[in-house]
Amino acid sequence: MEPILCGVQAGTSVKDVPRVLSCIQPTGSVHLGNYLGALVNWVSGQHEADVYHGIVDLHALTVTDEPGVLGAQTLDLAAMLFAVGLDPQVATVFVQSHIHEHSELAWIMECTVSFGELSRMTQFKDKSAKREGEFVSAGLFTYPALQAADILLYDAQDVPVGEDQRQHIEITRDIAVRFNHRFGDTFILPKAVHPKAGARVMDLQDPTSKMSKSSTTENGIVYLLDENSVIEKKFKRAVTDSDGVVAYDRETKPGVANLLDILSACTQTPIDTLVSQYSQYGPLKKDTGDAVIALLEPIRQRFHELHNDPAELSRLLSVGNDRAREVAAATLARAHSAIGLLPRI
Ligand code: TRP
Repeated sequence: MEPILCGVQAGTSVKDVPRVLSCIQPTGSVHLGNYLGALVNWVSGQHEADVYHGIVDLHALTVTDEPGVLGAQTLDLAAMLFAVGLDPQVATVFVQSHIHEHSELAWIMECTVSFGELSRMTQFKDKSAKREGEFVSAGLFTYPALQAADILLYDAQDVPVGEDQRQHIEITRDIAVRFNHRFGDTFILPKAVHPKAGARVMDLQDPTSKMSKSSTTENGIVYLLDENSVIEKKFKRAVTDSDGVVAYDRETKPGVANLLDILSACTQTPIDTLVSQYSQYGPLKKDTGDAVIALLEPIRQRFHELHNDPAELSRLLSVGNDRAREVAAATLARAHSAIGLLPRI
């Protein structure tokens, strides 16, 4: 049973499964680490819960100010989410800035969180320290209020996030508790959940670091849109070690272990089986590259099809936007009425 709030049934999920919200910023290209580490699970998870996936372009504004870039990146990310297999009929994929309720509820959240609470956010402290001497927007400071709005608007029960986002989910809960206490039960209290563990993909050139967009060398990162020949080359050049033995040990042989992890994730073959099949690095690199190519080629094709068909892409996005808007509008109305704002005339 969904909790009843203010006489309104919260969580209009018709699927009788938990409502789950994940959001992703449209910054940088999607790489193999994002795919095997998270997106694969988004795709399989769409049938297990009522999933909402927001492309949070307004959050990206806290660090991006180049004109004309964010829209294209948002569209590319949407095409990629559909290309990897999110089905707009099943998963609700939406663009944050297209649902004006996010900004509106964010203001209410800002008035429900204290300056002190926001000042204690480690992400703000880290990011603002890194930008020392540069422009630090107030948006970077109030970022968690917008994130709280993202979450509470959808009556999300579960929010799968990595460790770095736990504090933001905690503050969202604190805000929801405070609001409900002040104005009566309005928001569902969300909880952070550990995403199902995906493969931990490391940088091919520096296998002790996670594959990430902030990596220093492009050769270490495999992008979902890389051409086959580029993928092949990146795997051929992958850093291994000099002892020439194929064995799985993340501590002493991180490069080889990473190749085994990737090959295992792509082919659904247990690591032990793979270890017994290889005695040299050359064939292991070649087969891992080939397995990645086989996995990514259809995704890339679908991406390009969608990219070349903006009308279809807009149609797919509008399916999600419409569904998201309906839920968000109902929640914002509930919040307005709980506060006792003058009803619209
Ligand atoms: N802050 C998150 C990140 O940087 C992105 C995000 C925005 C988010 N809104 C959210 C994540 C709501 C989960 C739920 O990764």
